[in-house]
Amino acid sequence: MDELDKIFTFVIIKMTNCFTIKMVNKKIIAIANQNGGVGKTTTAMNLGAALSEAGENVLLVDFDPQGTLTIAHGFDPDNLSNTIYTALIDHHFNIKEAILETKNGPNLIPANLDLSAAEVELLSELGRETYLKESLKPLRNSYNFILVDCPPSLGLLTINALVAADAIIIPVATQYLRFRGLKLLLETIEKVRDKFNPNLPSPRILPNMFQSHTIHSREVLQELKDAFGPQVFETV
Ligand SMILES: Nc1ncnc2c1ncn2[C@@H]1O[C@H](COP(=O)(O)OP(=O)(O)O)[C@@H](O)[C@H]1O
Ligand SMILES: [Mg+2]
Repeated sequence: MDELDKIFTFVIIKMTNCFTIKMVNKKIIAIANQNGGVGKTTTAMNLGAALSEAGENVLLVDFDPQGTLTIAHGFDPDNLSNTIYTALIDHHFNIKEAILETKNGPNLIPANLDLSAAEVELLSELGRETYLKESLKPLRNSYNFILVDCPPSLGLLTINALVAADAIIIPVATQYLRFRGLKLLLETIEKVRDKFNPNLPSPRILPNMFQSHTIHSREVLQELKDAFGPQVFETV
């Protein structure tokens, strides 16, 4: 069983209160897909809440300028001055000052529209792909899991998340058109592995919005399984 399978099994098992599996290696998990509306933010929020409920120390990082994960936890992005953007750009800023506590359990580093400027500002910087990895370093020892909710694009922000990641989850809406963009994302992950992150394991595919009563959903799920085999999480 792969470690990410263990996380999911662990979440389910722990929810039924049986036993604990400690995860040590796969700490930073990027939740990525350049398509919007496939369930990245929902996965980050629910997985974070479930792991936290299970007693794990979880940090959620909102890495989407739209701040959906921040809003989902009851914060107004426009009223926040300390965000993941501050941590990326201001080298004198202590990232711990951006951490918010949530009612769901996990801690959260929020995002707002400022983050969209980072994509441009980092472009001219040396090592622009590793900014998030460097920013999160001081927090690695404080959390069991750090879940990064990526924006719906394959730009520099998502690259930063992939470079920082120990594992990647790709939520895929079981709708044909959305499944199409996967090839580009997988190629990007390959490049990131080659250049920056040699230990990055193959991403795991999370079929989402599966409607078992539609032929279409079943066909897409089968296509995913044919193409990606054990990389695809079992759906329930
Ligand atoms: N499994 C699901 N079943 C039903 N609705 C879902 C599911 N996953 C996500 N959604 C809904 O779909 C919309 C898009 O999800 P979201 O997580 O914001 O996607 P993304 O972050 O990839 O843009 C949201 O309204 C969310 O509540
Ligand atoms: Mg989102």
